[in-house]
Amino acid sequence: MEFYDVVKKRRSIRKYKTEAVPRDVILKVLDAACWAPSGGNQQQWEFIVVSGSKKEQLGESYAKAMEKMVPDWTEEQRKKAMVNARNFNWAPHVIVALTLKADDPFVQKMHVESVSAAFENLLLAACVEGLGTCWAMGPLLEEEMVRNILGIPSDKEVVALTPLGYPDMEATAPVRKDLDSKVTWME
Ligand SMILES: Cc1cc2nc3c(=O)[nH]c(=O)nc-3n(C[C@H](O)[C@H](O)[C@H](O)COP(=O)(O)O)c2cc1C
Repeated sequence: MEFYDVVKKRRSIRKYKTEAVPRDVILKVLDAACWAPSGGNQQQWEFIVVSGSKKEQLGESYAKAMEKMVPDWTEEQRKKAMVNARNFNWAPHVIVALTLKADDPFVQKMHVESVSAAFENLLLAACVEGLGTCWAMGPLLEEEMVRNILGIPSDKEVVALTPLGYPDMEATAPVRKDLDSKVTWME
C-alpha cells in the first residue's frame, strides 16, 4: 500500500472480530514500531501484548475509566460505551506501550515522544496488515488498575494502549481541520 494511502486509510476501530492475530504478524507490526526514531537512539520502548483473561480484566478497568470520561452521555450511549470498553472493543489482543520513567522532565518528555513515534508506526503497520487499532488513553483514567492487572513496576510509565485485531466495522474518517489553520510559514 502506498504510504500516503496508509496514512489516510488508518482509522480508529472500535469493533473487532474475536479471531486471534498470528504471533508472526504481531511481531511484524511491533518490529515496525521499533524502527521509529528515538531520542539518543535509546529505543526506550517496551510492549506488552495482552490476550485472554488479562485482556478481559483490562476491559473491566476501561469500563470503570469510561464512567469518568464523558459525564453528559445519554443512558443509551453510556451503556454502549461500557459494553465496548468491557470487552476492550471485542479485540483478541491489547497492546500496551511503556517507557522507562526518568527523573529529569526533559528526558521523560523525550522518552514519551519516542514511544509515541513508535506507537504511530505500530498503528500504520497494523493497517497495512489489515488489522484494526485504536489509540486509547481513556483506560489510563484508571491507570493504577492497569498497572496492577499487568504488574507494571513503578519505574515504568504507561504511554498508550490499543486493541489489536481484525476490524468488524467500517469506520468513516472524522473530518480533518483545514491545513491552513495548522501551518505557519516563517521566513
Ligand atoms: C492520544 C490519543 C488518545 C486517544 N484516546 C482515545 C480513547 O481513550 N478512546 C477512543 O475511543 N479513542 C481514542 N483516541 C482515538 C481518537 O478518538 C481518534 O484518533 C480521532 O477521533 C480521529 O479518528 P481516526 O483515528 O479514525 O482518524 C485517542 C487518540 C489519541 C492520539
